[in-house]
Amino acid sequence: MSTDLTTRWLGLELECPLVVGAGPLSKDPKLLGEAVSAGAGAVVMYSLFEEQITAEQMAAHRFIDARVDTSAEAHSFMPDSDVFSMDAGPYLRQLERIRERVKVPVVASLNGTTPGGWTNYAKQLEGAGASALELNLYEVVTSPDESGEAVEKRQLEVVSAVVKSIDIPVAVKISPFYASVPAFVRRLELAGARGVTLFNRFYQPDIDLENLDVDRTLHLSTPTELPLRLHALALLSPNTGLSLACTGGVHTGLGAAKAILSGAHAVQLTSALLAKGPRHIGVVREELLHWLEEKGYESSAEARGILDFSSAPDSHAWERVNYARMLDGWTLD
Ligand SMILES: Cc1cc2nc3c(=O)[nH]c(=O)nc-3n(C[C@H](O)[C@H](O)[C@H](O)COP(=O)(O)O)c2cc1C
Repeated sequence: MSTDLTTRWLGLELECPLVVGAGPLSKDPKLLGEAVSAGAGAVVMYSLFEEQITAEQMAAHRFIDARVDTSAEAHSFMPDSDVFSMDAGPYLRQLERIRERVKVPVVASLNGTTPGGWTNYAKQLEGAGASALELNLYEVVTSPDESGEAVEKRQLEVVSAVVKSIDIPVAVKISPFYASVPAFVRRLELAGARGVTLFNRFYQPDIDLENLDVDRTLHLSTPTELPLRLHALALLSPNTGLSLACTGGVHTGLGAAKAILSGAHAVQLTSALLAKGPRHIGVVREELLHWLEEKGYESSAEARGILDFSSAPDSHAWERVNYARMLDGWTLD
């Protein structure tokens, strides 16, 4: 008997919960194809950024301004930049190339945080055949003038605008830095999101002491980043109807098993595939299968959420007690 790995993520039926996470692999359809042949159940493309789209809109505007009569009458025929029909651009062509290459669902990715005309681009991604959209809300809030509530409200406006503009499901990729992740996730659900992807990594620049400069080297993740995600998955799993995807720190089949036990419907891998090559997803898949079989699970769905918080009647108190226990359990040699 072979263990069933099928899963339902964002309403999509996947053969395997292991998904190629957003990143550079999707810039090369051949490499992406290798990951899919090795067993990936879906792929998420690299992101198209709000700033890119907005710049394209502005450039198109300037181009038209330079070519046509700029009199007031001519301007009255100009489309409003907020609803400007943008050139689909290289991203759409790449999406089409990937779709031709792989037979699994292709999830497009938009990355932005302020409401505006750029969110209309989602419609074109849908038109180009994206099975779903992952909306990445990556940002580092720097202004002391904008409250946490205002930040969340602004982000939710972006989510609502994207959700309203398309029929395909939208997953929202968030950071762990909310005063209440469960409350924000509930608001995402009310805004029409179908899934949440946990968590963005905060790309922390270091200080280069030699050159007195900022060191912006991007380091790949390590498995030490996984427990933060496991904890949030376990907390959310009993409390949300959203599809849960884990991103961050999954490098092995055992890591994937932990994410599934915590409640993940899909487990994304980016760093591991960049470090070890796209076929590594096959190794992760084998290890996951082996672990499930060894533990007597007939399917990954059967294992999903076994270790989530559903059996903790008061999760807040449970957290506090465990925190105190852990501190108290530390023994000096
Ligand atoms: C080189 C690189 C490029 C990435 N590009 C994107 C991107 O375009 N959009 C996005 O949402 N996440 C992007 N990510 C983040 C990954 O999708 C992922 O969330 C993060 O790396 C944590 O997962 P991991 O531990 O499997 O790497 C990128 C990560 C890396 C390392």
